[in-house]
Amino acid sequence: MQTKNGGTTKISGASKTTGVSESTPLYETNIPGGTSPDRTDRTDRIPFAWPKLLTENGRGIAFGGDYNPDQWPEEIWGDDIRLMEKAGVNTVALAIFSWDRIQPTEDRWNFGWLDRIIEKLGKAGIATDLASATATAPLWLYEKHPEVLPRDKYGHQVNAGSRQSWSPTSPVFKEYALTLCRKLAERYGSNPYVTAWHMGNEYGWNNREDYSDNALEAFRAWCRRKYGTIDALNQAWGTTFWGQEMNDFDEVLIPRFMGADSMVNPGQKLDFERFGNDMLLDFYKAERDAIAEICPDKPFTTNFMVSTDQCCMDYADWANEVNFVSNDHYFHEGGEMHLDELACSDALMDSFALGKPWYVMEHSTSAVQWKPLNMRKRKGETVRDSLAHVAMGADAINFFQWRASAFGAESFHSAMVPHAGEDTKLFRQVCELGETLRTLADAGVQGSELERSDTAILFSAESEWATRSETLPSMKLNHWHDVRDWYRAFLNAGSRADIVPLKYDWSAYKTVVLPTVLMLSAADTQRLADFAAAGGRVVIGYATGLIDENFHTWLGGYPGAGNGLLHDMLGIRGEEFNILGAEAEGEPSEIRLGDGDSAASADSAVSVLNGATTRLWQNDVNVTGEHAQVLATYAGETADEWDLDGTAAVTRNPYGAGEAYFVGCDLDVSDLTRFVRGCLAVQSPKDAPSPESAESAKSPESAESPDVLHTVRKSPEATFDFYLPRGKKEIALHGIEGEPIVLFRTEQGEESGSYVVHRNGVLVLRR
Ligand code: GLA
Ligand code: GLA
Repeated sequence: MQTKNGGTTKISGASKTTGVSESTPLYETNIPGGTSPDRTDRTDRIPFAWPKLLTENGRGIAFGGDYNPDQWPEEIWGDDIRLMEKAGVNTVALAIFSWDRIQPTEDRWNFGWLDRIIEKLGKAGIATDLASATATAPLWLYEKHPEVLPRDKYGHQVNAGSRQSWSPTSPVFKEYALTLCRKLAERYGSNPYVTAWHMGNEYGWNNREDYSDNALEAFRAWCRRKYGTIDALNQAWGTTFWGQEMNDFDEVLIPRFMGADSMVNPGQKLDFERFGNDMLLDFYKAERDAIAEICPDKPFTTNFMVSTDQCCMDYADWANEVNFVSNDHYFHEGGEMHLDELACSDALMDSFALGKPWYVMEHSTSAVQWKPLNMRKRKGETVRDSLAHVAMGADAINFFQWRASAFGAESFHSAMVPHAGEDTKLFRQVCELGETLRTLADAGVQGSELERSDTAILFSAESEWATRSETLPSMKLNHWHDVRDWYRAFLNAGSRADIVPLKYDWSAYKTVVLPTVLMLSAADTQRLADFAAAGGRVVIGYATGLIDENFHTWLGGYPGAGNGLLHDMLGIRGEEFNILGAEAEGEPSEIRLGDGDSAASADSAVSVLNGATTRLWQNDVNVTGEHAQVLATYAGETADEWDLDGTAAVTRNPYGAGEAYFVGCDLDVSDLTRFVRGCLAVQSPKDAPSPESAESAKSPESAESPDVLHTVRKSPEATFDFYLPRGKKEIALHGIEGEPIVLFRTEQGEESGSYVVHRNGVLVLRR
């Protein structure tokens, strides 16, 4: 991938270049890696820049966490630094919630404590990722300007006292926030120990939806910009339904509470979600630009929230506006799903980063404190989880937080230094992790690029928002969780998929899978058709392509995306949905699948799903394609009761030089695994034609063991293999090439290239 040394940023107001121009640039843009030819280096991105460490050559894997020295007396700071040095900490995120300490009253600024701690840390070789400190505003500001507080959908003002209690569209709040940003930039812009800007914190965590009058005004302006005329907006929202036609943009409403049983216009709600995302992104950009005007030469980031249960913003857009991408990843108890889920979230992060390194800005050393049950990590997981993030492309491993708080809402959240102090299992593991990360960095892992899969599971934030509408055949749709189920199915089948935003370029993949991508525009449908026509394999899930970008249902048969192009590609046409659910008393909770076309029974794919079970959603379809093949049907008494017996459930249709599969019902991970193994782990059309690609063709034999997560990171100098057992059982590896770099919970066998990796262990080899 081409780097952009010396490129001018798009940051408005920042006139200087933020590429390498000074004799000692504060960051790197040309770290090794980025060699993959088919990742798109987007031109609408601000340039990639990675903060240098305070090490001799500036390189290394960043290791540390959120540091809140303002919660402690200064006497403790010395001990903090001693322990940080002991653990190998080289980076901290500072002042995230410190606005009140920095600006204790409107006209008083107090930087002394911040100067002192940045200096102390810096002298110890610990770099500061300095927050814009706007995540929590001081109470005096709320007291003076209660109008900056957001409102909930009932019109109630949210109270101050927590975090992100501000309206992203409040001009008053913005003025105060930008003043703070400028003050910080003036004070620390040239401080050599401050190596990156940590903007806000988890934008949208508490103010994703704001129903204030500021928001209403801003939404009207946003709609005017987007639609130009009120007719276009009426058309988009379908306001002839329930007599909601508007004469002017002054009549545009935000979806405030309209009474207990009223349903929100889904088109309006969707635009409100987009608007909320855009307003927070605009706020981030305003903060960034205020700092960049004064300090143009330090990289900017903000922590995304991609993990088990959330992916709430359209981070595909946010990724274009940061110099490097960062994530906060929190695990949820899920037994053996935990590692798979981590890898799945990280796969999406790696796509946002376009193969460049990215930051784990927060994860936990052990338990969190915000769920009904907060389990600690299992034996080995504290180190394993961090190394798993590295295996998935992260070059920075940070935690919330450095020292466990003695008070406040998060005092029972795990930290790097627990309440019991230094002489603890947990702190020893933190030290072991620091040592291991140094070993990996010395071996050259930093900057190497995660090897791509030839399969992309496509994720769309807008479809994620749309599936939450209360107006769909089922309220149980969950796009993000379906992405994860497919991801796990690929792992079970011995191959790793990538997760790529629908709006990015995925045309270089061989297979793309669209699970519950409810919304497809005509343009995106055309991209899918072009991809298949050129030899790609498209897999369409059960609730994909039903609505367009305005939440209008595509007509003429399901899934009708692109005026029917999608169902034509698939060679089927859906008439109705069949919805099931265990909680509907007296109704069946599942339908069984049987064999597909008996005429094609020479093909083993037609019996792959025999006996599989669907429990939520079945599409009642006709087969329309002359060459369409039915791979599974609905079968049995329940299927017959619902008029589905013998109806196609899963199909394959040739399209141009490629093919299109329809998985017309929900399936659990084990049944999806059968499908991936039986139907996709065969040569894809893109493999077939050229003899030189035959070697890379995926055949069932080339699949890896499903018991292991195997990832590969490559730089021009070296290739690194990471092996992590996915289950409870240890894994035995034989004939593995490469020099062992990390053997965490791993034993080396007598015979060269053989290893036993225990549960939650990690083996890293260098070739
Ligand atoms: C009510 C309303 C209709 C329609 C139906 C839907 O009966 O009168 O307008 O909303 O419910 O079930
Ligand atoms: C989030 C926040 C942190 C902290 C952690 C706790 O990620 O950014 O400040 O609250 O959650 O898990």
